[in-house]
Amino acid sequence: MSESAARQATLVQAGSGQFERGGADVGRSRETSRRRRLEKLALVLLLPALWLAARIVLGNPMVVTDLTFPEVDPLTVTPVLFFVVLIFALVGTSFIAGRSPHVTYRPEQISIGLDDVVGIEPVKEEVQRSLNLFLAHRAFADEMGGSPRRGLLFEGAPGTGKTHLAKAMAREAGVPFLFVSATSFQSMYYGATARKIRSYFKALRKAARREGGAIGFIEEIDAIAMVRGGMSMTAAPMSAMSAMSASSSVTCCGGLEGLPSVYSLSGASRGSAGLVTHSMVSEGVGGVVNELLVQMQSFDEPTGWQKLQSKAIDALNLFLPPHRQLSRPSPPSTNVLLIAATNRADSLDPALLRPGRFDRRLTFELPGRVGRRALVDHFLRSKAHDAELDADEARDHLAAITSGYSPVMIEHLFDEALVNAVRRGAATMSRNDIERARLVEEIGLGQPVQYTDHEQRLIATHEAGHATVAWLMAPTRRLEVLSIIKRRDALGMLAHGDRDEVYTRSRKEMIALIRIAMGGQVAEQLFFDDISTGPGGDLLYATNVAAQMVGACGMDDTLVSYAAVQGSAFNDQNIVGRVLADSIGRDQVERLLQAQRDHVRLLLAANQHLVAALRDALVDRHELIGAEITEVLQAAGAPVVVDDLIDLRSVAASV
Ligand SMILES: Nc1ncnc2c1ncn2[C@@H]1O[C@H](COP(=O)(O)OP(=O)(O)OP(=O)(O)O)[C@@H](O)[C@H]1O
Ligand SMILES: [Mg+2]
Repeated sequence: MSESAARQATLVQAGSGQFERGGADVGRSRETSRRRRLEKLALVLLLPALWLAARIVLGNPMVVTDLTFPEVDPLTVTPVLFFVVLIFALVGTSFIAGRSPHVTYRPEQISIGLDDVVGIEPVKEEVQRSLNLFLAHRAFADEMGGSPRRGLLFEGAPGTGKTHLAKAMAREAGVPFLFVSATSFQSMYYGATARKIRSYFKALRKAARREGGAIGFIEEIDAIAMVRGGMSMTAAPMSAMSAMSASSSVTCCGGLEGLPSVYSLSGASRGSAGLVTHSMVSEGVGGVVNELLVQMQSFDEPTGWQKLQSKAIDALNLFLPPHRQLSRPSPPSTNVLLIAATNRADSLDPALLRPGRFDRRLTFELPGRVGRRALVDHFLRSKAHDAELDADEARDHLAAITSGYSPVMIEHLFDEALVNAVRRGAATMSRNDIERARLVEEIGLGQPVQYTDHEQRLIATHEAGHATVAWLMAPTRRLEVLSIIKRRDALGMLAHGDRDEVYTRSRKEMIALIRIAMGGQVAEQLFFDDISTGPGGDLLYATNVAAQMVGACGMDDTLVSYAAVQGSAFNDQNIVGRVLADSIGRDQVERLLQAQRDHVRLLLAANQHLVAALRDALVDRHELIGAEITEVLQAAGAPVVVDDLIDLRSVAASV
């Protein structure tokens, strides 16, 4: 096969899935440079070998034991040595200060492959494509005239797998991986930071020439690449953080704790996210960023030897007529892929993000349900678990309850569940161990508190009220945990999440959320004819939801969006403040909340037997998890239907 045909074949292979790295350009370059190295070594050894052979032929072979060393006087040597050490100390300090701080990993030292990266398929596919082009760089450049990708920017929330994927890439590519943390470039000596950056890129180029390619990885690049003073950032797209879904909520009761507002991340309140108009200036930032910009374009620089050759050729050319001029050697193309990772891509200097530098931005999103399911399968493969967790339904459930989790959070959840299992004296984790670990992660450690009998019944009634309303009114929600164990400021709580991953909510669902929040207070009123301070947090939550409905989503009588109001006394996130500051908006929120409370009162009055059953179970067991809640409700007798929103329990019963 001709060379051109071979390159065509390489390109075709590069375009289709997994790539055979040995046969690609990187493998070929490495083989060529290995041969060249051997030839050089042979050339260097040839002269002494010839000399030794000549001595043997002439009958005067060299005998190692005959070698004698000259006598030296210690008094002469000591001062010389002293000055030599002194010079080394002086030169060495400045040399060390400018040394590249990277650590080189060989592919065989990295234990993670691309198969170990799961749940982030879109990013993985893109990375696979970049990797294939990196491996087939020469064919891509020569046959198609393309410029290979030189820089990839991994951006995303912490723990979404940026470093993990970069390591896997280095292993798959079979080239050295030069890992460096951006903070290690910083130095207390003036100018040393820029020198370290230069040394790092020099090491990258050298490794790439020696091995046919090299991957550089700069961790947390924002430490050295913040936007320079006066640069506009309007070109930067939105960050990954804003894409977080908010499909799970925990209703905590007791004390006066503020509740997590499910709607704070909704489209209306996100406003101008991603548009950074400020610019930060700190001492030396400009210089360091400039050095980085220059170095990112330095991959095709001539080597030191070539520079010497060029100088000699230039000197010779001065004596030669124009038609006999010698040409300078062309710089070798260096196959380098530089990856940088950051959590804050929106604060990077825009010049770094232009094509030719970090021309590909890969956003690591939090995994969706399918991704989380793959991650659950991946982590459970190596962590001891009960057989019940092997069922598809159990795994899907785990994927559902970890909505909003990053991969590292899922891994950590299982580790915590294993700790719970050890504490129980078991060798494998169970579903309940995971649920408990999740509670601790999300809400905090349970604290043993001796409630009085009255208080215990009050809190249990309150939580039972929430759970009953949720079961009757919100079939799309899954009841996860019902507890009267104190955690942080919450004396009790109902954790409920969406049955499916959702990104929007209907009006009925919003109404149901308000009603669930009202359930606690109404139950207290019904059973004790009084209310406590407990529902303070519930009302905060309900007011948030109601204000969103009235002022941002057009779900009540008005279609005016209060989110559109700019330059008011309230900051742009505070939709509640804007709505309540307007007397009409306030009336509408009040009316909405009152109507829902009245409705819940009717509902719970007709279903007191359900509340009582849950209350007794809670007083008895303190905490009910998942199906335990619905089992109590189902055993308590038939619910009484109050209006058309109820009775979708055929779905709820299948929890
Ligand atoms: N997609 C994934 N598949 C399997 N494991 C993953 C994945 N993503 C992350 N992990 C696990 O999470 C750990 C932490 O991930 P990693 O260090 O890559 O996060 P990161 O995005 O670099 O975070 P940071 O921004 O804080 O540096 C990894 O060591 C790995 O065990
Ligand atoms: Mg990282």
